Amino acid sequence: MSLLRLEDVEKSYGKEEVLHGVGFEMDTRDVDVIVGPSGSGKSTLLRCINRLTEIDGGSIFLDGEDVHAMDENDLRRRVGMVFQDFNLFAHRTAVGNVTLGLTEVLDLPSGEAHDRAMEFLDRVGLAEQADSYPAELSGGQKQRVGIARSLAMDPELILFDEPTSALDPELIGEVLGVMNDLADEGMTMLCVTHEMGFARSAATTLTFLDDGRIVERGPPEQLFDDPEHDRTREFLGDLTEIH
Ligand SMILES: Nc1ncnc2c1ncn2[C@@H]1O[C@H](COP(=O)(O)OP(=O)(O)OP(=O)(O)O)[C@@H](O)[C@H]1O
Ligand SMILES: [Mg+2]
Repeated sequence: MSLLRLEDVEKSYGKEEVLHGVGFEMDTRDVDVIVGPSGSGKSTLLRCINRLTEIDGGSIFLDGEDVHAMDENDLRRRVGMVFQDFNLFAHRTAVGNVTLGLTEVLDLPSGEAHDRAMEFLDRVGLAEQADSYPAELSGGQKQRVGIARSLAMDPELILFDEPTSALDPELIGEVLGVMNDLADEGMTMLCVTHEMGFARSAATTLTFLDDGRIVERGPPEQLFDDPEHDRTREFLGDLTEIH
């Protein structure tokens, strides 16, 4: 059974139809990369999966279970999310940001939550910055705290929404390094990113979304080297030139 299955997902905001019948499946340990123009519905698609926004039609299943029948907290523990703009609490330290979900959602005692948070900060190379506040961290460090926060919840799947696009170019590598390590370790990841080096090296599947529809989905080498649609070739060609 697939870990994640979307069937004919429809989403509108008012009169604007944003997703038109999106369907795909992912297995455990897959690394899926989604690319597409601005406004094509990439963030909306991720937000529908963990129900930060509700769909208007179709279905989404996590390990065979309809996400709409699930408790939202339970869903968001099982499906982590890493945001473009980090979404850290400014008044909490790095370790405080990671412990929050552990104490509030998983109900761990504070000592245990702290130890677990430190373990995951160490895993992203930030043990020494544990007591720093977000304002004292670089963008790359903030994003690594965001990843540690997600990982600490022991999710089955992590959604990444353009995790490097708010970063200065010299800081992108440290975040992609962590993402590559996670992919190597078998973490299941659904990533919206335009980092084509990452897509080529780490993705099991690449999806090109345009205007709320999947234009093409397949192994990255196929979309890069032998795409079925001219639109895919054009888009990936432009991206590769920029990056
Ligand atoms: N909360 C919202 N309310 C109304 N319209 C929205 C909302 N969120 C997104 N939209 C609209 O839905 C469309 C798709 O937006 P979305 O953010 O999913 O695109 P995207 O592919 O992630 O774009 P980008 O690459 O710029 O991040 C856009 O036209 C956007 O204006
Ligand atoms: Mg977006």
